[in-house]
Amino acid sequence: MTGLDTLRPRLPSPLQELSDPRFARHGLRLLLKRDDLIHPELIGNKWRKLAPNLTAAAGRTVVTFGGAYSNHLRATAAAGRLLGLPTVGVVRGEELADRPLNPSLARCTADGMRLHFVDRPTYRRKAEPDTLARVLRAAQAEDAYVVPEGGSNSLAVRGCRALGEELSGRADAVAIACGTGGTLAGLAAGLAPGMRCLGVPVLKGGFLSADIESLQRRAFGARCGDWTLDDRFHFGGYARTTPELDAFTEDFEHRHGLPVERLYVAKLLYGLVTLAEEGAFARGTAVAAVVTGRPFP
Ligand SMILES: Cc1ncc(COP(=O)(O)O)c(C=O)c1O
Repeated sequence: MTGLDTLRPRLPSPLQELSDPRFARHGLRLLLKRDDLIHPELIGNKWRKLAPNLTAAAGRTVVTFGGAYSNHLRATAAAGRLLGLPTVGVVRGEELADRPLNPSLARCTADGMRLHFVDRPTYRRKAEPDTLARVLRAAQAEDAYVVPEGGSNSLAVRGCRALGEELSGRADAVAIACGTGGTLAGLAAGLAPGMRCLGVPVLKGGFLSADIESLQRRAFGARCGDWTLDDRFHFGGYARTTPELDAFTEDFEHRHGLPVERLYVAKLLYGLVTLAEEGAFARGTAVAAVVTGRPFP
């Protein structure tokens, strides 16, 4: 019993239509799937991915991994505080151990998360059993329940299928920003036949299709759903931006009165506006953009 039910998630999350001439003039409807409103602290895909893992942890310490600004680390720390579960965050970058904590990591520790910093080569190999065992030993978390970076294991991917089910029959195309691709892997599997799903990777690399296929094979036994990725909107890579993206995002916030998360959601919305202007969607298409997060702080 993890007490998850006491957290009262707002599910299904609301679907909100926006009036935006950049879509309307191409005969398109723009809908926002407000997963950012599911829970004040377990925001968006964090709820969908963490909830099944917190249940599986069954009260054990939860250890997980992330970079210095990881949304996933913050959400795991918040879940730990809310549910009374000990949490350990393995953070990329040994050098950070000797510096003042940034606001994101400070929030993690304020929520009771114990931080353990590791060097980058070790962090890169953290999925290898020997390395993982060594890191867990050093972090004094050998018996802990391990959630991978970004939270994207099979339980999480299956948890994200509900997002697709909630959208079934409500839109023709669904678009989502991708980091590890776990959320898209589940979402696409839950969509009704005939619906398509578009992923916008925020990291540079072009490796994500294979990762998503492998996540789907592990979670569901096969590749599933009609999904594609558009690799043009990463703006140089994770957390990178340009004056053009910043101006676009501020304008979007202004037009619609919606605070836009910068690392993922901004790139998704920019990509969708570009695709609408390029005529990538047939007239009459209802496009749902998943709002997977909220700005921090
Ligand atoms: C706000 C937000 N949107 C999207 C994603 C991407 O999720 P995924 O790693 O499942 O692709 C993340 C990553 O955790 C996120 O924090």
